[in-house]
Amino acid sequence: MLHFFIRLRGGEMLEQCRDKRVVLVGDSLNRNMWESLACILYAAAPDRSRATVDDASADHKIFQALDYNCTVEFYWSPFLVDLDDQTRVLKLDRLPATTYRRLAAADVLVFNTGHWWTHTGKFRAWDHLERNGKKVEMGAEEAFNRALRTWTRWLDRNVDSHKTMVFFRSISPEHKNKNWCYNETAPMARAEEYVEAFPRGMVSIVERNVRRARTAVGYLDITRLSELRRDAHPSVFTVRGGKLLTPEQRRQPGSYADCSHWCLPGLPDTWNLLLFASWTSLRS
Ligand SMILES: *[C@@H]1O[C@H](CO)[C@@H](O)[C@H](O)[C@H]1NC(C)=O
Ligand SMILES: *[C@@H]1O[C@H](CO)[C@@H](O)[C@H](O)[C@H]1NC(C)=O
Repeated sequence: MLHFFIRLRGGEMLEQCRDKRVVLVGDSLNRNMWESLACILYAAAPDRSRATVDDASADHKIFQALDYNCTVEFYWSPFLVDLDDQTRVLKLDRLPATTYRRLAAADVLVFNTGHWWTHTGKFRAWDHLERNGKKVEMGAEEAFNRALRTWTRWLDRNVDSHKTMVFFRSISPEHKNKNWCYNETAPMARAEEYVEAFPRGMVSIVERNVRRARTAVGYLDITRLSELRRDAHPSVFTVRGGKLLTPEQRRQPGSYADCSHWCLPGLPDTWNLLLFASWTSLRS
């Protein structure tokens, strides 16, 4: 039913994207959202030989519908602020300049960040935090708040609200531990079943910063509706290093099941429908 609806809407979404550039920036969940949008628009293109995808780079992906002059891009930036891969320093008052230079002229910007701030131990991508060129010590929440302030300051200085519509996509819920996605084939029946996993304090920090920005930022709140969809993750049918899991790996869901990203077609299609609906309603 939903896919029938998306088929119908795809043509309208292509039309809405005519002469526009839509850019998603963030972590692999925004890449998932980009993949969904590229698929919706590609499927809707009357002449698919006139649609191009450049997804060779993990950091920057581009879909174009040439007959519509519609461009949809993704930039990898999981913290939004600058992470130096060499020194593993996360600079809370710096943005990755080359990425951000290419953003200001977009028609629609969709940002996300969140999960990478909560990683600990060997999963944490940074060793040190930095401000004003000096190492600083602070908790993850304070660092997250500083980073979002750096981001809103960039918006306020660089985005022309008459031309560019800015969205922040809310936290995409994971289904691990008590909410485990493995073997699930139906959505949760009741919202209360979902056991909160992402720190509530960090959600408040996002919401406060989005509200405080002088630039209008649409808050695309997909968290609640996505919490129910524990059945919508790839689980053991995921890809690792470009390959499907082996049967042996599939028998070890505890180590290999992916309960963070989403299958396509699937839930991120709904996020994109909501994005395009919000874009229409905020423009008029
Ligand atoms: C194509 O789209 C871009 C925005 O991505 C716009 O700046 C440009 O004017 C459009 N070209 C034409 C010929 O309309
Ligand atoms: C998952 O589903 C398979 C097939 O129905 C079943 O054999 C297996 O026992 C289930 N595993 C768990 C942990 O529920």
